[in-house]
Amino acid sequence: MNRFCMNLIKVISLSLGLTVSSCYAISNINVYYYNGNDNFINLYATFLGKLSERSPLNFKFYDAQNHHQEQLESIITGLYSGSPAIVNLVDVNDAPKVLEAAKDSGSKVVFFNRLPSDSALASYDDCWYVGANSEQSGVYIADEIDDYFKTVAHYDKNKNGQLDMVILQGEKFHHDTFNRTLMTVTKLKEKGYPLNIISKNYDNWDRYNAKRDLLKQIDLVGISNIEIVVANNDAMALGALDALKSHGYNTDVNDKEHYIPVFGVDGLPEMLKEVEAGRATGTLISDYSALAKVCYEIATSEAQTDEEVTQLVWYKTENHKTMIPYIKFASFKNYMKQKYVFPYQK
Ligand code: BGC
Repeated sequence: MNRFCMNLIKVISLSLGLTVSSCYAISNINVYYYNGNDNFINLYATFLGKLSERSPLNFKFYDAQNHHQEQLESIITGLYSGSPAIVNLVDVNDAPKVLEAAKDSGSKVVFFNRLPSDSALASYDDCWYVGANSEQSGVYIADEIDDYFKTVAHYDKNKNGQLDMVILQGEKFHHDTFNRTLMTVTKLKEKGYPLNIISKNYDNWDRYNAKRDLLKQIDLVGISNIEIVVANNDAMALGALDALKSHGYNTDVNDKEHYIPVFGVDGLPEMLKEVEAGRATGTLISDYSALAKVCYEIATSEAQTDEEVTQLVWYKTENHKTMIPYIKFASFKNYMKQKYVFPYQK
């Protein structure tokens, strides 16, 4: 019996004053990715793939490769088959249509990574979002930048009285892009850094775009006039490193003259390695395994309220949003040293 029938029975039973206590049996679960080539989504997908192998449920994975219309159609078809969906939308503006179909079919939807509007989320009771607090990531990056400059005791290499910064941004209308940049800039100004933002182009979370962008800025202002690079994610921070290395920068960690601090977010294994080696400067760990596990737990549970979901996943859930905290690289490193090895050393 699918969820649609079960929900129908629930409605009829409730209207007759009966309580339905037995669980519906979910047998399938559909997972939709906006683009499997995205490094962070790839880590998430690998972890969820492993979870699925141990699960009694039948998982189907769909990679939209950035095609929003095809993704929308596929999500809607899946929802009408009665299966819950874990959804990473290509276009967040598709959320209302997804939720109309979910409401009709009585199927559960768990969004992640791209946050739909509050009004879309509020339009259906059995819809959830799992993500991370992007304001927090901006604040934490500003802290890491400040810690770094305190240890080196200067930031104004070209002596123009400013901290000359290139920002490599994610997608234009993405909440993480907006909040990360905003909070990093705001907090750095509050800490007293006289910022000169050389550029803040949208490089769509992509390593190659970021490399090209930074190479262009180097051509325009000269490499000695760039004092820091802040990327909205690690893939783009790695692209920045590619650009700097091609100019002979950030290769020899003892050569402080040819080093520009680079910050990212996500904790991609390759970036952890670069930060650990001193060629990149900082990142945050966005726990993709927790993200995947929480999505899975919510999608397969019958929890209906924020309290029930909080108890189920052990992360605070409010207004149907579960937020997984970021971890600063330094805390992660200390913890990992005691307990585990770094992922890239495995
Ligand atoms: C996340 C980034 C991630 C990007 C691409 C954003 O929602 O905040 O950290 O790199 O998506 O997957």
